[in-house]
Amino acid sequence: MTDAEILHYITTDDRDEAEGLYALARGVREEHYGKDVYFRGLIEFTNYCKNNCFYCGIRRDAEGVNRYRLSAEQILDCCRIGSGLGFRTFVLQGGEDPYYTDGMITEIVRSIRNEFPGHAITLSIGERGRESYENFYSAGANRYLLRHETADEAHYRAMHPASMKLAERKECLYTLRDIGYQIGAGFMVGTPFQTPECLLEDLRFLEDLDPHMVGIGPFIPASGTPFAGHPAGDEGLTLRMVALTRLLLPRTLLPATTALGTLTPDGREKALLAGANVVMPNLSPVDVRKLYSLYDNKICTGDEAAECLRCMALRIRATGFTPNMGRGDSQVPFRPGAAECQVSLKLA
Ligand code: 5AD
Ligand code: FES
Repeated sequence: MTDAEILHYITTDDRDEAEGLYALARGVREEHYGKDVYFRGLIEFTNYCKNNCFYCGIRRDAEGVNRYRLSAEQILDCCRIGSGLGFRTFVLQGGEDPYYTDGMITEIVRSIRNEFPGHAITLSIGERGRESYENFYSAGANRYLLRHETADEAHYRAMHPASMKLAERKECLYTLRDIGYQIGAGFMVGTPFQTPECLLEDLRFLEDLDPHMVGIGPFIPASGTPFAGHPAGDEGLTLRMVALTRLLLPRTLLPATTALGTLTPDGREKALLAGANVVMPNLSPVDVRKLYSLYDNKICTGDEAAECLRCMALRIRATGFTPNMGRGDSQVPFRPGAAECQVSLKLA
């Protein structure tokens, strides 16, 4: 697609055109992954963060946040509960919390790997050095999620303190990829100061990086942050970005994000119908769920893991898809046997 075509779909307010885009994306996703929707069990193990991103509800200076950290044993217990429920992928996510030294993360990964030799272990703990990433990988981590947040320099500076650098974040992603991780990047839709050109830049960056997963969700204001007074991102634009990402990176894994489900009650179902094929139910202990408050009114903070799983499986079936509890490895890079992309875009 040319820049002009992509910008046209980013900015369109024509419902039929958007529906056509979702249908195309749905077709491409089905070519590569069929009707399956893959589950990842999310363990939010710390809401401490040394960074101060202007949008984030657990930023260092966020007001009114009760901070918590899970012990290695508590994290393992989450994995045990998750595995018992059928999860084969654990995502350990947290703020950038130096309390968890490289040695501690390595030990946590090693103990999960020992107990669950066949499960996928995903880390999502922000920017660290190559050596740290290598140590985690050697200990048994397979995947790493690090949203780039925006690929536009000026926009990145408008959302982060000067100490945070887009170039360093991108470098981390290329390093992770080079080490052998399956990587996930991604961005928010509707963050303050975002333009259509920023979103185009996100897609072009993703084409170059070619990640195994791309997390896309709407910006939702978080109280106690500098962006608390800004409006939330638009549902339609978020769905169009999911669909465009599916068309440009046909084999990537695309989560139907919790943020989209928070913005609109059926947001995740709509994402599945626009090319998404992953859900990430929460395995964190219920007593800390509400504290991992990246944005206001986050859904699914009251339910036990088993209840979240049941609810997601029902929603997936009701939308015409099939829950798949397997590891759901990405089709990036292309593995022989996967259907080749047949769809060619016919633009009006
Ligand atoms: N609204 C939506 N998503 C947010 N994130 C952080 N703050 C917000 C917010 N206010 C997202 C970021 C981060 C991911 C874990 O959560 O993209 O990478
Ligand atoms: Fe924690 Fe942005 S506030 S990484």
